[in-house]
This record gives sequence, C-alpha cells and structure tokens, in this order.
Amino acid sequence: MDQIVPKNILICGDAVAEMGKLKTESVDLIIADPPYNLGKNYGNNIDLKDREDYRVFSENWVREAVRLLKPGGSFYCFMGVKFIARLYLMLEEDFNLIPQGWITWHYTQGMGRKRGFSPRHEDILWFSKGEDARFNLDDVRVPQKYYRKRNNMAGANPGDVWQFSHVHYCAAERLPHPTQKPEALLERIIKASSNPGDVILDPFLGSGTTARVASVLGRQPIGIEINPDYIDMANARLKEPFATFDSTDPRAARQSKDLPKETPGG
Ligand SMILES: C[S@@+](CC[C@H](N)C(=O)[O-])C[C@H]1O[C@@H](n2cnc3c(N)ncnc32)[C@H](O)[C@@H]1O
Repeated sequence: MDQIVPKNILICGDAVAEMGKLKTESVDLIIADPPYNLGKNYGNNIDLKDREDYRVFSENWVREAVRLLKPGGSFYCFMGVKFIARLYLMLEEDFNLIPQGWITWHYTQGMGRKRGFSPRHEDILWFSKGEDARFNLDDVRVPQKYYRKRNNMAGANPGDVWQFSHVHYCAAERLPHPTQKPEALLERIIKASSNPGDVILDPFLGSGTTARVASVLGRQPIGIEINPDYIDMANARLKEPFATFDSTDPRAARQSKDLPKETPGG
C-alpha cells in the first residue's frame, strides 16, 4: 500500500467562521476540545461567557461541525461537568446525533480542594452521524490481566474510563498552553474512529495535540484556532521528529498472568 503523506491544514481564526468555509460532509472524524467556560486565559481570549451566551456559542459551532461530518462519521467532544449534561441533550435532541459513548478521562493528579472532593476527571462525549459508526476495536485493545479461556488474548476492550496523566508542567513535552491534552488519549480516539487517510477536524486546536497525533498516524488533520501564537506552536510541533507519544495508558505495560484457579468453562 502507498504510504499516506499527511497534508496538515492549520487555520487561524474563529471556529464557526472558518468551519463555514469548508465543504459539507467532507470530514470523517471531529474531535472538539472547546473552552469549558471556566475562565481560563487563552492569551487573546478569556473563556468566560454568561450561561446563555455560552449555550448559543456551543449551538453555533456544533451546527457547523455536524454539517461538515460525513454520514457514519464520529463526533467526540471534551467537556467539563458544568455544561456536559446540556451538551449531551443538545447533540442528541437538537442535532439528532446518535450517542455512542460517554468516556471518563481519569487524570491522576491535580489541585487539591479543602471543601468538596478534588476533581479528577473530565469527560468526552462520543456521538455519530447515523447509527453505523466505525469502531476499530483491534487497534485499541489493552493487554488482558489474566490468561483465561474466554479472554481474547489479543487484548481487552479499553472500556470507557481511561487513565492518562496530564502532561506534567515539568515534562519536556509540556507547551505553554493551559489545557494541553495527553497525546495517548487522542491516539485512542483517532485509532478507534478513523482509518489512515481520513480527514480529522479539530475546531479548537490549542497547542495542536490532535493535529500532531493525527499526522503521525497518517490521517489528514485540519485544525482551527483563534490564537495565532498557538497556531505557531502547533506548526512547530508538527515539524518535530516523532519518537513516542507523550503519555501512555498504564495498562499498556501489563503482563498477562495465569489465573490462580481457573473455573471449569471459563
Ligand atoms: C481547551 S483548549 C484546546 C486544547 C487542545 N486540545 C490541546 O491539547 O492543546 C481550547 C482552545 O480553543 C481556542 N478558542 C477559543 N475560542 C475559539 C474560537 N471561537 N474559535 C477557535 N478557537 C477558539 C482557545 O484559544 C484554546 O486554545
């Protein structure tokens, strides 16, 4: 098979305006990590709107994203607890997307709270346009814990609670972006829901994690980002030689063990 040379397209601008220039049903997979409306400082934009403005902002970019998605394509969206319930209903009821999964990203470190439980997760909604969403399970299996007859020893389904640590502030891979996502998390989404050569759109590109991983995996990334400094950051990241991704699922290092006592039949 010919090797696919990724054509990386990074666009500086507003997500809605720039998506508006792209062709209807031209994208195989959308991965969106929008601002969560938590007051983060993204350099030239502050992530703080009143509740209704944030709902309208979300509705507008989701409308464009759904227009661009091919039938059968998947739509993944990261979201914090404040808006996720409304977003779920919006995607299902207002945009008629089909729910495929609610993934919890459990990160192992973060700020400690004195009142209330310290937050240790963010969530990712997975929807598709039409029932028939691609799912390449064999590309995302993790090693089984035990050898047993009924287990597929090619590996287990990774489930819908994923543990990846944040890219630590002290790590060499950490970029000056406040919400850089771990590459292995994007790797799993991209491998599960796209094939080499597919077009993958991230309308809120940030430091460029989706584009970097998509490009390494031979997909065609399109990234949109409103802050030109982050576009420069993402372009520089795309040019770096690839050694490994900056994070891994700790289960990847598992060595399958014998069950102490295998029960008859399984
Ligand atoms: C949660 S961050 C994305 C982080 C990214 N996934 C990463 O790994 O670095 C959201 C990004 O959306 C950008 N942004 C905010 N409003 C935007 C808009 N209207 N259009 C495009 N990008 C926008 C922000 O500058 C910020 O970089």
